[in-house]
Amino acid sequence: MLETLQPAKPDAILALMEAFKADPRDTKIDLGVGVYRDADGRTPVMRAVKAAEARLVERQDTKSYVGLAGDPAFSDALSALVLGDARPAGRLAMVATPGGTGAVRQGLDLILQAAPGATLWLPDPTWPNHPAIASHIGMPVRRYRYFDDATGGVDFDGMMADLRGVPAGDVVLLHGCCHNPSGADLSLPQWREVAALLGETGATPFVDIAYQGFGDGLEEDAAGLRHLIGAVPEAIVAASCSKNFGIYRERTGLLMAMAPSADRLKVTQGALAALNRLNYSFPPDHGARVVTEILSDAELRADWEGELSSIRNGMLDLRRQLAEALRTRTGSDRFGFLAAHRGMFSRLGASPEQVETMRRDHGVYMVGDSRLNIAGLNARTVPVLADAIVAAGV
Ligand SMILES: Cc1ncc(COP(=O)(O)O)c(C=O)c1O
Repeated sequence: MLETLQPAKPDAILALMEAFKADPRDTKIDLGVGVYRDADGRTPVMRAVKAAEARLVERQDTKSYVGLAGDPAFSDALSALVLGDARPAGRLAMVATPGGTGAVRQGLDLILQAAPGATLWLPDPTWPNHPAIASHIGMPVRRYRYFDDATGGVDFDGMMADLRGVPAGDVVLLHGCCHNPSGADLSLPQWREVAALLGETGATPFVDIAYQGFGDGLEEDAAGLRHLIGAVPEAIVAASCSKNFGIYRERTGLLMAMAPSADRLKVTQGALAALNRLNYSFPPDHGARVVTEILSDAELRADWEGELSSIRNGMLDLRRQLAEALRTRTGSDRFGFLAAHRGMFSRLGASPEQVETMRRDHGVYMVGDSRLNIAGLNARTVPVLADAIVAAGV
């Protein structure tokens, strides 16, 4: 049977990691893989995570199963972090999931079950796993305009024009903040316009928020999503703790489904729990407990927020340094968008040939669509990258 199996499509980012490893140059720079790195190139365990884990080891007296939806204290704590005062009372169904990817998968499965004909509208570009998961489960996908390569910003007019054409009953996926791969985010007034439009057309928003706290701050990064939640009757939200708690391998995420009425809550919650049961039964628990411990303890929370602020400010600083290095070298502000982008990624707008030239001549590794991981830089490598960008004629 396995003789007929076709090879899986190679993952471009994993292939890039392999090529980087094999490159003997000690001046090479890895801007490909999507994890946060500090100035020494490490992805450290955050202090509050270490402390919370120590407490759990001390206190935990069983590893028995939890509920199918995970620990309710985790859903409560994380939904409060993401949605704040916008949390709809009595209408929010929630399940813990294996990371943000698990939340995206369960959210799309829920839609497929509730509205089998619905099309998923994705921003162009988007995280490649969005279309991959949708097509894996047989959900039709269409794109709406999002990033403008010419300006390095959001093509908001194009986006609104495309969203105006999305029929009621279809689903529009939005990145909560720190858009991956472009780094270009909607402003709060633009979120308001999108929310009003979706309220009018009857399309359902699906917000994927995987970098809360990596843009402008925990509250600021969720402001658009929170406004949207108040402006539409139903919505799906997938949240990841991988980046902002630095617990990538613990697989910690939450899927929230805002039901249109309190009457629909029970059936929505039941459907989500059943999907967990079908796909993997009980969701992972360790990371969820670590997050709950941090969010519900004032001291741990303050320490976590402090460390998250330093991470964010470090990335903002690198953005400014890179934009400035390019301004000096080109005598123009055309790379100013790099300082305006938010989160770990920016799309440079380079052609595949230019990306290849930077790799070959300068040992600079970025994804083929010219997405670069800002957190892969440091004060020493910013000038190297700026030289490579200019030399490749970007
Ligand atoms: C846009 C987006 N959504 C979701 C995820 C899922 O992250 P994880 O499954 O590691 O929590 C990522 C991670 O790269 C992402 O960039």
